[in-house]
Amino acid sequence: MINVTIDGIKTSVPEGSSILKAAETIGVKIPTLCNHPDQAVKGNCRVCVCEVEGNRLLAAACVSPVYEGMTVKTRTPKVVEARKTILELILSNHPQDCLNCIRNQNCELQTLAEEYFIRDNPFSMKTRGLAKDYSTPSLFRDPDKCILCRRCIEACSVIQSVNALGLQQRGHHAMVVPTMGWDLIDSPCVMCGQCIHACPVGAIGEVEEIDKLLAAIADPDTVVVTQIAPAVRVAIGEEVGLATGDMPMDVFVAGLRQIGIDFVLHTNFTADLTILEEGNELLKRLKEGGNLPMFTSCSPGWINLCETFYPDLLDNLSTCKSPQQMFGALVKTYWAEKSSIDPAKIYSVSIMPCTAKKYECSRPEMNDSGFRDVDLVITTREIGRLFRMSGIDFNKLAGSNFDSWMGAYTGAAVIFGASGGVMEAALRTVYEVVTGQTLENVNFEVTRGIQGIKEAEVDLNGTVVKVAIANGLANARQLMDEVRAGTSPYHFIEIMACPGGCIGGGGQPITKINAKRVERINQIYVEDEACQIRKSHENPEVKAIYEEFLHEPLGHQSHHLLHTHYTPKSKKAL
Ligand code: SF4
Ligand code: SF4
Ligand code: SF4
Ligand code: FES
Repeated sequence: MINVTIDGIKTSVPEGSSILKAAETIGVKIPTLCNHPDQAVKGNCRVCVCEVEGNRLLAAACVSPVYEGMTVKTRTPKVVEARKTILELILSNHPQDCLNCIRNQNCELQTLAEEYFIRDNPFSMKTRGLAKDYSTPSLFRDPDKCILCRRCIEACSVIQSVNALGLQQRGHHAMVVPTMGWDLIDSPCVMCGQCIHACPVGAIGEVEEIDKLLAAIADPDTVVVTQIAPAVRVAIGEEVGLATGDMPMDVFVAGLRQIGIDFVLHTNFTADLTILEEGNELLKRLKEGGNLPMFTSCSPGWINLCETFYPDLLDNLSTCKSPQQMFGALVKTYWAEKSSIDPAKIYSVSIMPCTAKKYECSRPEMNDSGFRDVDLVITTREIGRLFRMSGIDFNKLAGSNFDSWMGAYTGAAVIFGASGGVMEAALRTVYEVVTGQTLENVNFEVTRGIQGIKEAEVDLNGTVVKVAIANGLANARQLMDEVRAGTSPYHFIEIMACPGGCIGGGGQPITKINAKRVERINQIYVEDEACQIRKSHENPEVKAIYEEFLHEPLGHQSHHLLHTHYTPKSKKAL
């Protein structure tokens, strides 16, 4: 251990620790911008400078290792003056746009400008005049606001292995750009939105579509029907001042009714339905010799990666649409008929943790209902903004139930929100279908947790099924490369594009650290435990839809409405 003194406080930290890490152990806060707790050290913004006794030059705390007997001062007038100057320089070419910015009140640069009371900037103010990029339906880029920290580059290359972003030119002309400086849509970007979470400022964000929702609500001839994805509830409270997981589901539903939604249904219903379709698809492939391993198909960022980088393995993907798109196809057919509502009047809105879902709903094949199946995708962050605008007090709001026929769900659907959840839900059902025995303990602990790759073996009446789970696309690639090489031992692989699964999706409340993802995962399993029914095939509304409408898993109607196909993507950048 190394002994150091920081602002007069003595501490001992492991060898190799930075000043920043050492300061954290004693609660001394040093400002940062390029530093990200879960990423490699960058050391390019210099806002973390400190005085080290015996050194003439200030040291950047995030990159400077401690040594025995080191004495550091983090708050001297010289340090404060240097940090102010660095902030003024950054702000001298930064748009003065906080009031209109997507990160207003949630921006690391804005927070530091406030904390260091930046008022009159002595440097001349001139932005770089770079064009915004609205080429994708999921994300926008505003490069004028980029502070060149490079956290997005690491998220895209190391965590997601997509390499859609890079640094172009040097010095004053340096810019973070999509591949070759093209628009994002022409790069290999899979629209996962992980760069949004990494970005400290408003240089990357989701394409906001709240106005479309408000227009639909205001139209008396439109029936607005929402679905809520499994991962949204645990995180939506964070947007309105509650703790993670603290928004009860019935209060969330009541909040949606308050803002004028006509019918509130649940993606969890089609998550349960997915298990019936996908579970039977897996059993059919195992029995009849279809392409194995079979890959799950719920995560559109993952589908984009597969279509872009592994077009030779598209036949291994389950043909099941994602729960969002199954819901869209059913709400304008089955549900419209049962509710005696003209499907042409239904405006189908998904509340999703995901930016790639905005792209998914616009795919040309997603119109099997005879209409566009999902009209609009709103992220958790956007619905949070709408809730804040509406001024609802969620501590006082009385709860409300979901509407009928596509609102019932089980614990198996709830866990779709976490990495490993689809696999666990499938195993709960497949086990009972194959063995004919009741599964007494439904908890498959081995599938749970945030670790990048998990694997398990399940004995189904003498047939051992090997499964694997990956979250984050760099982890997915490891499994995919094995499959491509013919060395994969697995029968079934769950892949979620985002770290931790949908709870860490690109549309969730800004999530800087993995510890927050773990907190949300824990809340998912608390909700699962609290459900009276925890196996998808026991969902009464799922049973009803098979009796009345679909008739059997993988049947004719299911094939038409619930299954899809995939198309190799040819990207300019590849
Ligand atoms: S990125 Fe931050 S500092 Fe810049 S305009 Fe947006 S809120 Fe303000
Ligand atoms: S959305 Fe995902 S793939 Fe696209 S640039 Fe951001 S991190 Fe990379
Ligand atoms: S876009 Fe955001 S994360 Fe990427 S370099 Fe710029 S400021 Fe940093
Ligand atoms: S936070 Fe230390 S150099 Fe940027």
